[in-house]
Order: sequence, then structure tokens, then C-alpha cells
Amino acid sequence: MRVAIGADHAGYKLKEFLKKRLQDCGYSIVDVGTFSEDSVDYPDYAYEVSNLIVNGKADFGVLVCGTGLGMSIAANKIRGIRAAACSNIFESIMSRRHNDANIICVGSRVIGDEHAFLLVKTFLEEPFEGGRHQRRVEKIKQLEEKG
Ligand code: RB5
Repeated sequence: MRVAIGADHAGYKLKEFLKKRLQDCGYSIVDVGTFSEDSVDYPDYAYEVSNLIVNGKADFGVLVCGTGLGMSIAANKIRGIRAAACSNIFESIMSRRHNDANIICVGSRVIGDEHAFLLVKTFLEEPFEGGRHQRRVEKIKQLEEKG
């Protein structure tokens, strides 16, 4: 599975931690940056990760900022992206089962490193349930046309 990962300066250290742990688990990682704690703008990285997904170059994405919120707001502007900001395991599981989320966003100032890894790993392993949830995801796609 190919996973695109990106972060702003607030998420840089957690992004590096997550990258290493995911690589140790056998995931193929595409890291779009940032590569230091110098101040940058999170929408740039949300765009890069989203782009890899919508162009079929990554299966899922992981975005890290201070809260996870800015990244999710930005990524959800991209057609085809369903980004879920998660701070607990229930949200991580349900964002896959019911929403077929393709990006998980986590906040380095909200949760600890190991907690974030657990949420991300769970997200990547959890299948979409389909069924009635497929119909609802289709309606989300229709909103992209209406918007
Ligand atoms: C950066 O200070 C911070 O605003 C950013 O990482 C993120 O939390 C935005 O949503």
C-alpha cells in the first residue's frame, strides 16, 4: 500500500515519527515534506498529498499539523478527497467504515506520537463497509459538482 504523508512545521516531528513507524510496518511512503521546523503553510502540503491520491499515485494520505484541522479543511477542498481529522480510535475506525475517508489528519499538539501512530495504522487497515454508506459517499461526490 502506498501512503502519501505531509506536514507543516508544527507537524514535522510527528510526521517523521509516523513515516519511520509506517515504513517499519512495510508501507511504501511518499513524503511531500515539510523537512524542517521552519514555518510553512499547511494548505501547500494538503494539496500535494491530495494530488497524489486523486492522480492514483497513492492509496491513502496522512497529514499532520498542529491540530489536524487546517489540513483537513484544506484537503477537503480537493475533488475526490475525504479527509478526516481524528483524535481518537473511534473516529479513525468510523471514518473508514462509514465515510470511506482517504486521508487521515492528526494534530501534533493534540495527541501523542504513539497515539497518533495507532490512529493512522488503524485507519490504513480498516475497510469501508459499503452498502448504505456507499450511497452517502456518492452524495458527497454530488456535492462536489453542486458546490
Ligand atoms: C501552525 O501554527 C498551526 O496553525 C497549524 O499547524 C495548524 O494547527 C492549523 O490548523
